[in-house]
Amino acid sequence: MNLYEAIFVRKTVRKYKMEPLEQTILAGIINFAESIPHLFEGINVEYKLMEHSNIKKHFSGVLAFSAPYYLVLYSENMPGYRMNAGYLMQQISLYLTAKELGSCYLGMLKPRNNKPENSNTDSSKLDYVITLAFGKAESEVYRSSDKAKRLPLDDIAIFKSEVSRNIKTMVQAARLAPSSMNNQPWRLVVYNNRIHIFCKKNIFLSGVLNEVKLIDIGICLAHLLVTAEELWVDVKTIHLDNISSIAFKKNDYVISIKMY
Ligand SMILES: Cc1cc2nc3c(=O)[nH]c(=O)nc-3n(C[C@H](O)[C@H](O)[C@H](O)COP(=O)(O)O)c2cc1C
Repeated sequence: MNLYEAIFVRKTVRKYKMEPLEQTILAGIINFAESIPHLFEGINVEYKLMEHSNIKKHFSGVLAFSAPYYLVLYSENMPGYRMNAGYLMQQISLYLTAKELGSCYLGMLKPRNNKPENSNTDSSKLDYVITLAFGKAESEVYRSSDKAKRLPLDDIAIFKSEVSRNIKTMVQAARLAPSSMNNQPWRLVVYNNRIHIFCKKNIFLSGVLNEVKLIDIGICLAHLLVTAEELWVDVKTIHLDNISSIAFKKNDYVISIKMY
């Protein structure tokens, strides 16, 4: 199974066998994580692998479940860093799915220290972003995509012109992206060879929850770009000033994907 195939069978796993994974598997995960090209160049990130026994030392708050491992992502706090983090972490989640391992994002975990310990770079430049719990699932690790609870395609995407089958597949993959509390904040406008990505505004949510939405958008971008790669569609992400200057009532413009 490759990352693209994993998109259509991945689900969140919250019950784990508390048994260790082989060192080669753990090393494979870290190698994969460090090999993923970033969404935005020039943002330093660092991964820390933690076992359940030391998660309490690093994080406060209640853990609703236990997992044998936690992959913690720290990033340089620069424009686009949350989106970049979601984009990277989702590809790791898909890699774990392809290896028959379960995973679950932990959006509510609060680090005792916002900076990584024993950092490879200057830790003062890095901030905690998100954690992915993972390990062998207690039960089924796969789910067919028709069982995923998601908004209908028409609610998240508008097609302003006739588009190719490849672009439709990309949008279907985007629809399946996981999000914090399954909020699915992405709204896509597809026109010719461009997909414009917007984020749904929520006047009742502010602060942390709004920040999490940018991680969600990065996750959605991972599904779009992994699918483009699988279908041999050349893509580039662009930020269009003419769209971002328009004030939309319900959505904020985030980014566009241009297909060649
Ligand atoms: C950024 C982010 C944070 C999340 N935080 C939590 C969490 O703290 N606890 C939890 O049980 N699930 C968490 N989830 C999992 C979502 O609830 C889940 O992805 C969503 O309900 C869709 O379900 P699915 O992944 O099985 O398709 C999080 C997901 C994302 C993307």
